[in-house]
Amino acid sequence: MSVAKITLTHRESQLRKLLLDVACYIDESKEVKEKIELRWAGGWVRDKLLNIESHDIDTAINVMTGHSFALKLKKYLEDEQNLKRHSMVAEEVGSLHKILANPEKSKHLETATTKVLSFDIDFVNLRKETYSDDSRNPQMEFGTAVEDAERRDATINALFYNLHTDEVEDFVGGLDDLKARRIRTPLQPEQTFKDDPLRVLRLIRFASRLEFNIDPQSEEWMSNSSVMDALKLKISRERVGVELEKMLKGNNPQSSLRYVDKLGLYPAIFMDPTARDILAPDTTRWSQAYNCLQTLESNNTPGSIYQILVRSDDARYISWILAALAPWSTVPNPEKSGSKMLPLLGTRVAQEGIKANSKICAHINGAFKNYNQITDLKNAVAQGRAFINERDTVGMKIRKWDADGGNWRIQALFALLVEAMNHPTSSDAAIDALFSGWQAFIDHLDNLDIMDAPAEKPLINGSTLMRQLNAKSGPWIKVALDICMAWQLRNPGASGPESESAAIDEVRKRSKELEIPVNK
Ligand SMILES: *[C@@H]1O[C@H](CO)[C@@H](O)[C@H](O)[C@H]1NC(C)=O
Ligand SMILES: *[C@@H]1O[C@H](CO)[C@@H](O)[C@H](O)[C@H]1NC(C)=O
Repeated sequence: MSVAKITLTHRESQLRKLLLDVACYIDESKEVKEKIELRWAGGWVRDKLLNIESHDIDTAINVMTGHSFALKLKKYLEDEQNLKRHSMVAEEVGSLHKILANPEKSKHLETATTKVLSFDIDFVNLRKETYSDDSRNPQMEFGTAVEDAERRDATINALFYNLHTDEVEDFVGGLDDLKARRIRTPLQPEQTFKDDPLRVLRLIRFASRLEFNIDPQSEEWMSNSSVMDALKLKISRERVGVELEKMLKGNNPQSSLRYVDKLGLYPAIFMDPTARDILAPDTTRWSQAYNCLQTLESNNTPGSIYQILVRSDDARYISWILAALAPWSTVPNPEKSGSKMLPLLGTRVAQEGIKANSKICAHINGAFKNYNQITDLKNAVAQGRAFINERDTVGMKIRKWDADGGNWRIQALFALLVEAMNHPTSSDAAIDALFSGWQAFIDHLDNLDIMDAPAEKPLINGSTLMRQLNAKSGPWIKVALDICMAWQLRNPGASGPESESAAIDEVRKRSKELEIPVNK
């Protein structure tokens, strides 16, 4: 068995001393029969052994709830003497919030979180979980350190640092796995995954983030159909969505999607649970979409496709969701039911399957709605069609796309990913040709200076139009405003009264065709 030594930073030593003093303070009060034992648990120990900084520390307590311990800590620090002894000022204590424990789950196991010495600390009692097959929520009770280690998702997340002995405690072989850069379940994988199937996704996330391998036996169970059914049945879509968000916002989303692909988990994650009649799409070529995004992202130089189309962290996150949803572009949208227009399939999967927020769903809807038209325009540029040099024609298209959820650039990225996915081969030459086509498209729009057409402020509004044309309100106004905007796009930078009348003249010329109802 491996042994490991942890070297605390000055701050961590300070915190350790403080918590040990609180433990003594509780011991001396004789309120609790057993001696208090404190351990730092889980992610902090793992990261520390991997030399990754972490300010989040889970402190596990043997015979007391986290909340009770935190109250004792607060009490202890109310004494000026104790503050002084630890060279602290009152502000460094932070606020002690009570976390309301989920009542069904663990009324008697309340946890607490607080900030001390600039660490974010969770206080939790050591626990064991018992699961019954029919219940979604485990029964929780006090447990031993071994039981607490065994209930965790991966051995590398089940290590403890014992504050009293200054030693790492490894009950499930986590140190060996850390050394071998391996993700493995503490118990038999079947047990670990059936107890909480969301762990399948958590292990994918850790493997991707740390660039570890998943142990073959654990991996085999991650793709077992009964585990997958449990994932679909027992886990809320909100929790799936939260886990997916962490994956896709992480440092290695491509690796996470590759695991989902390899383990056959697509139908359990990227689906609409409210539509059982719709089959999951074919994912044979899915990898071409997410690998393509990875290639673009890693080639993020000034003027590159990625830098022009993906301009914020939010946009990056949405781009990975779109890469994940790309296979849904191959499934025909169902006919509308009665008069009700159903949302596009990709949007439904984002909405219902991963519970993305409404802003993200709007972006995704725009992408699914417009990607074909954007590809058409890209192809028109490649063919050198005449209209592609008309600033107004191109600009009005872009404005229209952008009106669907905003950020038409991300819609263009989706169009590219779909094209990459549908390409019969993923050879380097094919990818190069694809990229140069899109780069030429973007360069062309950039030369026209039309990428920001959606930000163009209208010179003319509806009331001005009605007044100038002495006309009544009506559906003509929307068309007329577009005519004015097209004039603006043909005359970049124009402003002032002369420009305004020139734009209005365009409308006047077409007043017959627009059937403008003039005031008598
Ligand atoms: C999945 O696990 C079940 C036991 O829960 C087993 O009967 C089945 O053969 C496994 N399926 C696969 C595909 O490995
Ligand atoms: C329309 O434009 C005119 C002239 O620029 C302005 O005075 C007026 O407040 C605008 N009306 C609305 C409803 O925005």
